[in-house]
Amino acid sequence: MNSKLLKKNLKLVLSKKEISQKIKELAKKIEKDYKDEPLIFIGTLKGAFIFLADLVRNIKNPNVEIDFVRVRSYGFSDTSSGKVEITKDIEVSLEGKNVILVEDIVDTGITLEFLYNYIKTLNPKSLKICVLIDKKERRKVRIPIDYVGFEIEKGFLVGYGLDFAEKYRHLPHIKEVIKNE
Ligand code: IMP
Ligand code: MG
Repeated sequence: MNSKLLKKNLKLVLSKKEISQKIKELAKKIEKDYKDEPLIFIGTLKGAFIFLADLVRNIKNPNVEIDFVRVRSYGFSDTSSGKVEITKDIEVSLEGKNVILVEDIVDTGITLEFLYNYIKTLNPKSLKICVLIDKKERRKVRIPIDYVGFEIEKGFLVGYGLDFAEKYRHLPHIKEVIKNE
């Protein structure tokens, strides 16, 4: 695919400013809910790395820990096939701890459902989910999402951690890939 051509077909969906304002709101809610209680954020790699980094830097709770999990879903390139496997496991103990799972975007819900069920088996004291973008159109499984940044109906989004074939993760804003007619 011609990357120059693709660049022209990106449409701004969320600006840097909109994202940073929303992250401050999410951080405030989380601070209110947990106060200074020990809290572990588990970010999903790679997509959530920028979101998690910005989110935690807005949280003043001194008892915050951070870890990452990486999963792979196979099948189609732009959507989950229903088969998810862990390729990098969580490395800290979650037993008896408050956990917030941080994901960049929820689409079908299959990835988050898998991770939610997996983390439950690690016996946390509590488990909540925080997503930057809740994309509704292709939802297949219902999962409780406690903290949502933006609700977006449809479209393939890139930037701010989100990729298209590993490109565009570094963009400071979020854009939609507009397919060629
Ligand atoms: P789900 O399992 O279908 O909910 O898919 C979630 C995963 O698919 C996310 O963690 C992303 O990696 C990827 N994904 C879904 N929609 C998009 C998108 O619009 N842009 C980039 N990645 C996406
Ligand atoms: Mg992801």
